[in-house]
Amino acid sequence: MRAYDLIKKKRNGEELAAEEIAWLVGGYVRGEVPAEQIAALLMAVYFRGMSSRETAALTLAMVRSGETLDLSGIRGRTVDKHSTGGVGDKTSIVLVPLAASAGVRIAKLSGRALGHTGGTLDKLESIPGLRTELSPRELIDQVNRIGCAIAGQSAQLVPADKLLYALRDRTATVDSVPLIASSVMSKKLAAGSSAIVLDVKVGSGAFMKTLPEARALAEAMVGIGREVGRRTVAVVSSMEQPLGRAVGNALEVEEAVRTLRGEGPEDLRELCLALGARMLLVAGRAPDAAAARAALEERLARGDALRTLAEMVAAQGGDPGVVAHPERLPRAPIQEPVGAEAEGTVAAVDAEALGHAAILLGAGRPRGDERIDPAAGIVIHRKLGDPVRRGEPLVTLHASQAERLAPAAARVRAAYRIGRDARAPGPLVLDTVE
Ligand code: URA
Repeated sequence: MRAYDLIKKKRNGEELAAEEIAWLVGGYVRGEVPAEQIAALLMAVYFRGMSSRETAALTLAMVRSGETLDLSGIRGRTVDKHSTGGVGDKTSIVLVPLAASAGVRIAKLSGRALGHTGGTLDKLESIPGLRTELSPRELIDQVNRIGCAIAGQSAQLVPADKLLYALRDRTATVDSVPLIASSVMSKKLAAGSSAIVLDVKVGSGAFMKTLPEARALAEAMVGIGREVGRRTVAVVSSMEQPLGRAVGNALEVEEAVRTLRGEGPEDLRELCLALGARMLLVAGRAPDAAAARAALEERLARGDALRTLAEMVAAQGGDPGVVAHPERLPRAPIQEPVGAEAEGTVAAVDAEALGHAAILLGAGRPRGDERIDPAAGIVIHRKLGDPVRRGEPLVTLHASQAERLAPAAARVRAAYRIGRDARAPGPLVLDTVE
C-alpha cells in the first residue's frame, strides 16, 4: 500500500477499506507514514466525510494503537458517560455518584480542559488531596467497593488519538463529524465499559453550533457503537448558555455538591436526571424511563448520592469534608461584580465567550502547560430571559490577581446581549439517539 494512493482515493470521494485505514493509522503511530501525508488525508476526510463503515474502521484502528482497559473484574454492568464539552458542565461530578448510588457501576476516564471548555479532572483536583491517577487495579477495586471512580487516562490508551488530535489542531480539521466521533468513541471503547451514554452539546458553548450538526455527531457515535457491538445512547443537550451558574474548577465542584444536596440550579439537576435515567436503563437497573427517574430522585432526596460522592473523594485521597463544607474548597481572594450596561432582558449569553473569560481569570490553560488557578472563575447571576437593570451584576468574577479582572470583564460584557423582549431559554434536552 502507498499513502499517496489512499489520500488520492479519499480526495476523489471513494470509500477506504478497513485495512487501508488501519494501515494508515498504524503506520502513522509507528512513524512509518509521515505527518504531512496524514494531514492531507485529514483534510480530504474533512471535505469528503466518511461512511459509517469507514468511521467505525478508523475508530477501531485508533483503539488498536494502544492498550485497552479490561473491566471484567468489576461486578455488575459498567456504564460510561461522556460529554462532548461545554462551559460550566460539571455534570459528571453529580451524575457519576448519583447513578452509582442507584446501582450502576462506573469506571470513568475523564479529560482535562480543552479550548474554551473545562475538564472534569481539573475540576476534581481542586478538592484538596484528590488523586486522579489511578492504576487499573485501583480503579477496579474502588468501583467494586463504592460503585464509581473518576480517573485520568493513561498515555498507553489510544496513543493514535493524541497524535491525530494534535495534527488536527494544527491543520484546521478539528470540527469534522467523523474525526470527532472516532476520537471520542475510540477512548470510550478502549476504556472498556459495556455501555456508553453520550451527552452531545449544541449551541454557543459547544463544538457543534447547530442542531443538525449535533444530531449528525450523535448519529455517527451511536453508529460506531452499533458497528462494533457496544450499546451506545446519545442525548443532545443545549449549550446555548453555560450550564448552572458556576464556571471554574472549585466553583463548579461546589455547585455540583449543592446540586447533590438539592440546592443546585434546575438546569443542572434536570440534565443529570435525564442522563442518569439513560444510564440506569442501559444498565438494566430500571424497567422504563419513569422508574429510572424516580429511583434517581429518591437517591438524591435520601442523600445517598451525596454520600457516594464523599466516599469517592475519600477513596481517591481527597478531603471528604468538602461535601459537608464546600466552603473548604479553594476560594479566590478577589471577587468583583460586572454590572449590566443597559436595562432590559438577557437575550443572549455567549457561553464560549464566558469560557474564554474564565480562562483569562486563570481557570484554564491558554498555552497548554500553564497551571490552573483552582479558585478562579465566574458566578453567573443573570441567565437567558432574566430581567436586569443598568448597573445590576450580570456575574461575579473570582480571581487571585487583580490585573486579570479588566480583560475578563470586557469579555463578559461582550458575551451578554440585553434586549427589550423577554426570551426564555429553549428546552435543555433536544433529542435522544439510540
Ligand atoms: N473531544 C474529543 O475527545 N475529541 C474531539 O475530537 C473533540 C472533542
